[in-house]
Amino acid sequence: MTRYEKPDTWSLKAQKEGYPARSVYKLKEMDEKFRLIPSGARRKAAPAPSKMPSRQGFRVLDLGAAPGSWSLYVLRKLAGAGFLAAADLSPLSRRYDRGLFDGGNFFSLRGDISAPEIREKLVEKGPYRLVLSDAAPPTTGSRQVDTLRSLELAETALGYAESALEKGGCLVVKVFQGGDTAGLLVKIRGLFESGRAFKPAACRSESFETYYVGLGRK
Ligand SMILES: C[S@@+](CC[C@H](N)C(=O)[O-])C[C@H]1O[C@@H](n2cnc3c(N)ncnc32)[C@H](O)[C@@H]1O
Repeated sequence: MTRYEKPDTWSLKAQKEGYPARSVYKLKEMDEKFRLIPSGARRKAAPAPSKMPSRQGFRVLDLGAAPGSWSLYVLRKLAGAGFLAAADLSPLSRRYDRGLFDGGNFFSLRGDISAPEIREKLVEKGPYRLVLSDAAPPTTGSRQVDTLRSLELAETALGYAESALEKGGCLVVKVFQGGDTAGLLVKIRGLFESGRAFKPAACRSESFETYYVGLGRK
């Protein structure tokens, strides 16, 4: 087992809390910071902020969803309300979902998010309130190649946001730093009221990934 594969604190915590990957803590941190997903839990003392849309009718698209931690986080938080569509080249893990992936408010597709037939089916399930993309290319060892492929995936996710995100909706997209990521951020700022880079604490220290967050689709 290499150092990279060795389960770390985040991975062990994820398994304990019923998620197949440590990446769930990146989404959780961004959700807590940017209030991306309405909670299904009823809270007496803290009513939902007026700008947060209700979870009823809250539709989410999860691109590059496997093994499924982000999808599980969203479904658990929506607690039976809303809708989630997920897509990946690989299958979702069924180890922790306890039937959530069989629910009527969940749809998943196996395939390439850049393929027109996949895109058509996913867009059809919208419009969405939130588009998430944690899609990442398999790394080749060449930072230049990996960055370029990651940027292509991020541009694809932005394309979904352009055509399937409703007004006021949000985007979270992973991108490997390097290449023309500044150009991507400019496009995000053009499409959203605000756009910024954010690196969650759960990102591996040696990783060159970051996330771009677009809030308030114009
Ligand atoms: C870091 S993982 C996503 C982890 C996921 N967010 C979770 O929490 O379980 C990146 C995923 O992107 C997927 N991916 C990469 N390129 C893709 C493409 N063109 N179409 C669909 N999925 C893709 C990979 O198969 C991989 O499962």
